[in-house]
Amino acid sequence: MKSAMWRGLILGGLLLAFLPSQAAMAAPQYWLDPAGPVAEMQGRLFLLTLWIMIGIFVTVSGVLVYTLVRFRAKGAAAAGSAPGGAAARRESAAAGEQDLPPQIEGSHKLELVWTLIPFLLLIVIAIPTVRYSFALAADPEGDPIKVRVVGHQWWWEFQYPELGIVTGNEMRIPVGRPVELVIESDDVIHKFWVPKLAGKMDAIPGRVNRMWFQADEPGVYYGQCAEMCGTHHANMRLRVVALPPAEFEQWADNWGRGPVVTSEAERQAVERGRQVFETRACFGCHSIEGTAARGVAGPNLTDIGLRTTLAAGILENTPENLARWIDDPQSVKPGALMPRVGLTDSELNDVVAYLRSLR
Ligand code: CUA
Repeated sequence: MKSAMWRGLILGGLLLAFLPSQAAMAAPQYWLDPAGPVAEMQGRLFLLTLWIMIGIFVTVSGVLVYTLVRFRAKGAAAAGSAPGGAAARRESAAAGEQDLPPQIEGSHKLELVWTLIPFLLLIVIAIPTVRYSFALAADPEGDPIKVRVVGHQWWWEFQYPELGIVTGNEMRIPVGRPVELVIESDDVIHKFWVPKLAGKMDAIPGRVNRMWFQADEPGVYYGQCAEMCGTHHANMRLRVVALPPAEFEQWADNWGRGPVVTSEAERQAVERGRQVFETRACFGCHSIEGTAARGVAGPNLTDIGLRTTLAAGILENTPENLARWIDDPQSVKPGALMPRVGLTDSELNDVVAYLRSLR
């Protein structure tokens, strides 16, 4: 009975170790499917440790199960069910005392073995750990691009000091180039985490943490805040959009160029929307490059039309959702710092047209 339970536990543990690598590969935040060198190093280190631990677990449990089965007290168990069992058990216990196994207390050979094996295993784990720790702490090779990440309740700000760009919740990066991140917080402790690119890093008020990552393939990499930071901790998501270098350059060049319109009617709506944005409460919290809106409490909206989501990853960025979000932020994200501005329907439509044109 006991050995069956153990067998089940061991099998279950092994299956758990294998199954995710098949099924979870498709999950957007599966961290053992690395998309760049940093996540790869960290994943390799984790797997090395995991396999060693599984080896130890299987060996120790195996010996334990074997011992339980091989040396179980057959006579006593059988006697227990017969009448007068207690007396029989006492007898068999007394007999057991007479043929005790050899006493091995203080065996130098055994002590050496169980000291040396863990020592060697620790060395096997320590060598790559130290090597990767130094590799990840050093400045990345190549031509890194710098991004300052600031955590806010509950959204992410990304500043590109060399490019003069500020954006929110969606970080655009060039493929194949390391990204040097400087991670800070504006209010409480957050944690920056894009599982396919790198492990977690705290965003702590009054402290600057550094890390780097690199995406080897173009694509969208999902991330989220990984430190409990208030009501919308779970809704503090982010995306890293890795673009081919030419597309990244194009985005950087176009950033802040102003609205993109395709018709005269659209141009008029966009112009009206810009005026609403610059004169109503919006400009107090948000910035849009090239306008009077210079607020810094909320995300910079200069390329809002390009983003795939709104409200830190909660809503898909569609005109309907944008209108819903602006019209009543609290119904989408209760407790969010964005207030209700109270726009008329036509003002709302114009602001939506304006924001959609910023791409
Ligand atoms: Cu920010 Cu959790």
